[in-house]
Amino acid sequence: MLRGALLFLSRQKHLRRWMETSPAAELLTRRFVAGKTLARALAVCRRLNAEGLLVSLDHLGENVTSVEEARLSRDAYIQALRAIAAEGLQATVSIKLTQFGLDLSEELCRENVEGLVAAASGLGGFVEVDMESSEYVDRTLCLVSDMHERHGAVRAVIQAYLYRSAGDIDMLCQKGIPVRLCKGAYREPHSIAFRSKRDVDANYVHLVQTLLKRGVYPGIATHDPKMVDAARRSAAALGLAPDRFEFQMLYGIRRDLQRKLIAGGYRVRLYVPYGDAWYPYLMRRLAERPANVLFIARNLLRR
Ligand code: FDA
Repeated sequence: MLRGALLFLSRQKHLRRWMETSPAAELLTRRFVAGKTLARALAVCRRLNAEGLLVSLDHLGENVTSVEEARLSRDAYIQALRAIAAEGLQATVSIKLTQFGLDLSEELCRENVEGLVAAASGLGGFVEVDMESSEYVDRTLCLVSDMHERHGAVRAVIQAYLYRSAGDIDMLCQKGIPVRLCKGAYREPHSIAFRSKRDVDANYVHLVQTLLKRGVYPGIATHDPKMVDAARRSAAALGLAPDRFEFQMLYGIRRDLQRKLIAGGYRVRLYVPYGDAWYPYLMRRLAERPANVLFIARNLLRR
């Protein structure tokens, strides 16, 4: 029911207009969204870097519906990469292939992604390719593998809730492609994905161990203290130095745990969203996992 309500709210244009322009709404979201402009995102990035945190910038855009919008997305990211390089910031960028035109044409998407990854490689930057719902997994991994072969400078994302993920990690490790491991944020059917938290967590721990053993600089993306502890124990058992992997969390979430990890000598990268189109992004995320509404409420109270 909550999911339906959130999806309904996500389509309300008046509410969206009010939310995206209201100072009150900005107060509510500024903990989670850096701001509307690249300048605001860079300011947040500077502040986080000064605190010892690494960053991945995520330019929020709507699912694109035209070739022009897909190119604009790519250009916004190239601009971000140039600014990151010019200021020497410790930051990557994170993209979604649907924002680069995957729903319009695979060819167009490939062209846009290649433009960005080639630019990143030239600038000494890095592009992380988020994983969307299961219908995109094959195409996403194929494109990431291809970009890795041609340019390097890319990281894939694997979702622990999918049964197929152990096989995908095996393939990515063999090719030396860096991986970010998350639990997975979309609603997937039983036939292809674990549904219970217990099963997802067990698979996450198993996959973290594989990545720490065989992966290239894995990104362990979770706010779950149990997953974090499991990763720390595995790394210690393997005698792996803390600079051989990183934890990743969302901007504004579990700041206490972020700081604790930094103080303990670990590397932590924050995923920092910015841009105009934050309303549908936030609402869709909440709708995808209504439990996140509680997280938002809890995070308003938690330091
Ligand atoms: P989970 O939701 O299982 O909660 C376990 C515990 O963690 C909670 O009980 C609480 O203690 C703590 N916790 C979790 N979230 C919290 C919060 N918001 N506030 C306070 N405590 C919290 N998904 C995807 O499908 N594709 C992708 O590309 C990415 N990319 C990505 C990047 C980064 C950097 C992160 C952190 C996450 C993603 N995700 C993602 C989302 C991911 O798949 C997942 O939905 C969320 O991270 C929630 O799962 P957790 O492992 O954080 O904890």
